[in-house]
Amino acid sequence: MSKTLGVSRPDQASYMLRAASEDAGRAYKQRLLDLLDLRAGHTVLDVGCGPGTDLPALAERVGVSGRVIGVDQDPAMLATARRRTAAMSTVDIREADAHALPVEPRTVDRAKIDRVLMHVRSPADVLAQLHTATRPGALIGLVEPDWDTLAVDAQDLETSRAFTRYTTEKVVRHATVGRRLAHLAVKAGFRVETAIATTPVFTDFEHGDHTLGLGRNMQQAIAEGHIDRTRGEAWFAGLAHGPFYASFTLVTVVCSRP
Ligand SMILES: C[S@@+](CC[C@H](N)C(=O)[O-])C[C@H]1O[C@@H](n2cnc3c(N)ncnc32)[C@H](O)[C@@H]1O
Repeated sequence: MSKTLGVSRPDQASYMLRAASEDAGRAYKQRLLDLLDLRAGHTVLDVGCGPGTDLPALAERVGVSGRVIGVDQDPAMLATARRRTAAMSTVDIREADAHALPVEPRTVDRAKIDRVLMHVRSPADVLAQLHTATRPGALIGLVEPDWDTLAVDAQDLETSRAFTRYTTEKVVRHATVGRRLAHLAVKAGFRVETAIATTPVFTDFEHGDHTLGLGRNMQQAIAEGHIDRTRGEAWFAGLAHGPFYASFTLVTVVCSRP
């Protein structure tokens, strides 16, 4: 099979739901929910809830006396989130920017923000918002990748390295925020309770390509003159042959609000 570089962007809502349902996605999300120690009656805030990936699980854990607030700035994501939670009366979905959280100060018992800080204008300002929104004693779960750790196996190791560098420098806004989470959390006034690193591994080429943007971002890197066309195209075509391996580190930090 020969693979050529593609431009199509995946449907983001479906992609996120699919990613969350795969082994690596399920495992870290489950662990995060366990670490958050959600109890019946809690008010829980999901910042950047996307298509509502975790809202049903949060609603189940806080029960009928609890409340789940999902916030996202993307109306298309929220339309999917609303559809998926239509039958859940405790779920409240709000369209807003994470830099201006639409919640009363000190009303949130638990909060999570999963793969969102890497995209926002100011991760520090979003954490300051979370500090205002949460009650003393609240637990907050933060999960972000560290794209510097993106390892793609290829015959041409230098091009894999160049691809990782392009991803961190040109594709993702705060590509290494994962390793900075504990620092940012303390600066925002939280206490770090747990810090864990997990490593999602991709052994299926199509899945890796879709999730990591291999073809999409390589094509962009070539077009912008960061990677030589012949090498970039050969690198991508080679990935589809034989065993595929790619991985990166995902950092989870759970902190408390004193
Ligand atoms: C990678 S998705 C993660 C979605 C969800 N947390 C999950 O685990 O499936 C990132 C989400 O963050 C949202 N987002 C990015 N910047 C935002 C901002 N400044 N305010 C609110 N939402 C934001 C995007 O719209 C998108 O839905």
